[in-house]
Amino acid sequence: MRPLLEIENLRVTFPTTRGDTDVVRGVSFTLGRERLGIVGESGSGKSMTGRSILKLVRAPGRVYADKLAFDGIDLSTRSEKQMRALRGARISMVMQDPKFSLNPVMTIGEQIAEALLTHKSLPRREVNDRVHAMLESVRIAEPERVARLYPHEVSGGMGQRVMIAMMLIPEPDLLIADEPTSALDVSVQAQVLDIIDELVRRKGMGLIFISHDLNLVSSYCDRILVMNTGEVVEECRAGELMNATHPYTRGLIASIPRLDETRDELPVLDRSAWAKA
Ligand SMILES: Nc1ncnc2c1ncn2[C@@H]1O[C@H](COP(=O)(O)OP(=O)(O)OP(=O)(O)O)[C@@H](O)[C@H]1O
Ligand SMILES: [Mg+2]
Repeated sequence: MRPLLEIENLRVTFPTTRGDTDVVRGVSFTLGRERLGIVGESGSGKSMTGRSILKLVRAPGRVYADKLAFDGIDLSTRSEKQMRALRGARISMVMQDPKFSLNPVMTIGEQIAEALLTHKSLPRREVNDRVHAMLESVRIAEPERVARLYPHEVSGGMGQRVMIAMMLIPEPDLLIADEPTSALDVSVQAQVLDIIDELVRRKGMGLIFISHDLNLVSSYCDRILVMNTGEVVEECRAGELMNATHPYTRGLIASIPRLDETRDELPVLDRSAWAKA
């Protein structure tokens, strides 16, 4: 079976006063119907790699690749109009900051409905039912009430769940999730990951999961890419991450806080000076 995604020698370049800087430098990988984690420190090019796949790198940024193919479709030759037909319907991306991805002048319910209706037509009643069911499945209580709110009326964590609902409702073939659960409580995070997982298993969806959290990625994904300064420095099965050999990966692993380790105690304020006064 051909891979869902084939990327060869991907480069993303931004012009600067000192000439062009490559922020993604020759990234290659393929993705099947599996969960691929991308980890690496801030600025390593994770989001730019994700955005390149949807051709959402804004000018003056430029994207080059020897191959950028989704399900056999050469994305590099696709027009913006053709890309719009793919986005949402077949490839979805949960952006790192939902505040910039939700439309401020549309209610949450309307936006999720639009995500569903862009690619198929359904009776209004069924649309509403599906929107409410989707909100419920991302653990939003009172979905009918929340559907009538505008994005600024919900918290950051709820905004993130709304984004996830919007991206999952059309049941894409490929989901790119950029730090999708970073604003969520651990229990809600686990539930949201379960929903994504269910689509991976039931529909054979491919997932690119971008995260800073090595523990989360190594327990949740099948395979992992480690990025550093725009390059993939290590690629391994998730279960093997903790045995990784590249010094950069070893450094990332060493910086994971551990519960069984004691660090220098934090200084405690001496309150006696003002407590008696
Ligand atoms: N518009 C821009 N102009 C110039 N450089 C940019 C621009 N946007 C991003 N960059 C640079 O591209 C590099 C990669 O950014 P990217 O957002 O992919 O990092 P990231 O790995 O997702 O980081 P984080 O974990 O903080 O989200 C960064 O060094 C960033 O400074
Ligand atoms: Mg990022």
